[in-house]
Formats: sequence, structure tokens, C-alpha cells
Amino acid sequence: MRVLLTGATGLLGFELLKLLISEGHEARCLVRTDSPNVSRLDGEGAEILRGDAADEEALCRALRGADALLHVAGIEYAPSVVGAARRAGLERLVVVGSTSAHSSFEFRSAPKKRMEGVVRASGLDWTIVRPTMIYGSERDKNVHRLLRFLDRSPVFPIFGPGTNLWQPVYHEDCARGVYEALVRPAAAGRSYDLPGASPLPYATLVETAARALGREPRLVRLSLGPIRRALLLAETLRLPLPIKSEQVLRLREDKAYPHDEARRDLDYAPRPFERGVALEVARLREVGLVKPKIL
Ligand SMILES: NC(=O)c1ccc[n+]([C@@H]2O[C@H](COP(=O)([O-])OP(=O)(O)OC[C@H]3O[C@@H](n4cnc5c(N)ncnc54)[C@H](OP(=O)(O)O)[C@@H]3O)[C@@H](O)[C@H]2O)c1
Repeated sequence: MRVLLTGATGLLGFELLKLLISEGHEARCLVRTDSPNVSRLDGEGAEILRGDAADEEALCRALRGADALLHVAGIEYAPSVVGAARRAGLERLVVVGSTSAHSSFEFRSAPKKRMEGVVRASGLDWTIVRPTMIYGSERDKNVHRLLRFLDRSPVFPIFGPGTNLWQPVYHEDCARGVYEALVRPAAAGRSYDLPGASPLPYATLVETAARALGREPRLVRLSLGPIRRALLLAETLRLPLPIKSEQVLRLREDKAYPHDEARRDLDYAPRPFERGVALEVARLREVGLVKPKIL
């Protein structure tokens, strides 16, 4: 298959690029002209075209001769992606969304649902895949930071009781799920959640990550109420903040999802967090981002 891939320089897209090539497909990557990460694609055997996923014309040009579009760069670009795919007479479109489409917080779910609607109404041979939080290397923006913090600090603050559920997915497992969604005809016209193997309470996730590093931090539970009130006050005063008060509320929300449909149609079988995080620790040690193992 000749596949146009967006987001190839990112965490998930890069794994997908490697999978496409290793499975014998032709990959063409659409990369922003100002991407600081284009050199990551050197030597991977893909054709590189410059352009933005928000630019329907650029997408349309990039789609010439392609059989499928694997859009990883963000479901917010669905209007230009769908517009270009229709104009190009494309046969197959796979779009990566997010399980935050299931959030009970409208500010998270409504934009994702709206964009999913654009894909569903496209009239194309579409599939939507929704990862949970993706982890698995120094490129992830969450577990990698958690591990580096745990590596340095004997104390770890937990906002709230730490009982809310998380189900992060290892980047290679997520990529395999997305890839199978692209190549299996049964996936056309369907949406799939792609979470990790099973849900974990947040405190257990932190303890599991710490164990993988060989550390035993003291978990200090901080009440969410005062933090949220302080953030609300700061927002009223228009102070710049790293996190919104709504996001603090969302920390209480369970992010656990079954994956029966992906297992049935895609043979989706993600690894447990304990195994994935051990691999990530090994990788971070290899690149010197966490301390060597104490023997
Ligand atoms: N990471 C997670 O925890 C998570 C969870 C749920 C869903 N997802 C979804 O999964 C997808 C991949 O996530 P990720 O973590 O791999 O993302 P990432 O590492 O941040 O990579 C994003 C990729 O998209 C490219 N990109 C962004 N805007 C673009 C544009 N306007 N035109 C062309 N390319 C553009 C980036 O290119 P540059 O090199 O130019 O930056 C990069 O290659 C995203 O759609 C994300 O919403 C991610």
C-alpha cells in the first residue's frame, strides 16, 4: 500500500512509520516546514514532503498516487484531511483521535467528538482510533517526566487520593493497533479505543514506575480542593499558569476503557504497564536520562 503519514516525527507516528516500512508498504510523510524533528526520519526509507496538516492544498498534493492516509498529527485537522482525501478520491482514511472524546468534561470531549463527526460524515472508508495516554520512550510527554522526577526525589506528591484509574498504552502496542486498523477491512467504518492492558489506580501506577527504577518514594497526598481554589483565583487575576483549574478537576476522572472491540477485530493485545515501564526505564538509562541501576 502507498500510505501518506502525518505526524511521523512524533512519538506514535515514528513507530507507525517503522511498522509501515517493515511490513513492506511505501510511506510518504507530510512534515511541517518548520518541524525541528525532521532529521529523525533520516535513513528510515520514507519519502518526505513538506506541508501542514491544516493546509488542504498541501495534503491534496501529497496524496497524489497514495492508497491511504494515516493521519496521526491531530484530529483537530479533520476538516482539511477529509476535504483533501475526498478531492483525491482516496480509498482509505485512518484518523488518530483520543479517548478524551469519552471525558465527561465537555472542554475535553466536545472538540474531539465534533472532529470525529467530520470523519464519520466524510463518506470515505474511514476508521477512528483512540489511544489513551501513550508512553514508551524519552519522546513521551508524561511517563518519561514521571520517571525522571521519581529518579531524583525521595518524595512524590499525589493530587487527591490517587485512586482514580489510568490505563496508559505502550507506544509500540498503540502503533500496532493503529496499523492493524489500517490494513484490516473489518475496521472500515468503525472506531476503536486503544488503551493499555488494564486500568491502574494512579498511586499504583506511580509505585509501579518507582519499582521499575528500584526506588521507594514516600507518596504525599495533597487535597485537590485548595489547589483548585488557588488556581481559580489565579485565573480570575489572569496570571499565567501551567495547568487550568478544569484540568485539576479532570485528575479525579477515571480514564479506564475496555478494548474488546479492538481485541476482536485487530487482535489488539497491549502489554501490562509493569512491562512497558520497565522497557522505558531501560531506554532512559541507555540515553542517560535516569541514573544507572544500583547493583
Ligand atoms: N501522546 C498521548 O498521550 C496521546 C494520547 C491520546 C491521543 N494522542 C493522539 O495521538 C496522536 C499522536 O500523538 P503523539 O504523542 O505521537 O504526538 P507528538 O509526539 O506530539 O507528535 C505530533 C506529530 O504531529 C506533527 N504535527 C503537529 N501539527 C502538525 C501540523 N499542523 N501539520 C503537520 N504535522 C503536524 C508533529 O510534527 P512536528 O515535528 O512539526 O512537531 C509531530 O510529528 C495525536 O493525534 C494525539 O492527539 C496522543
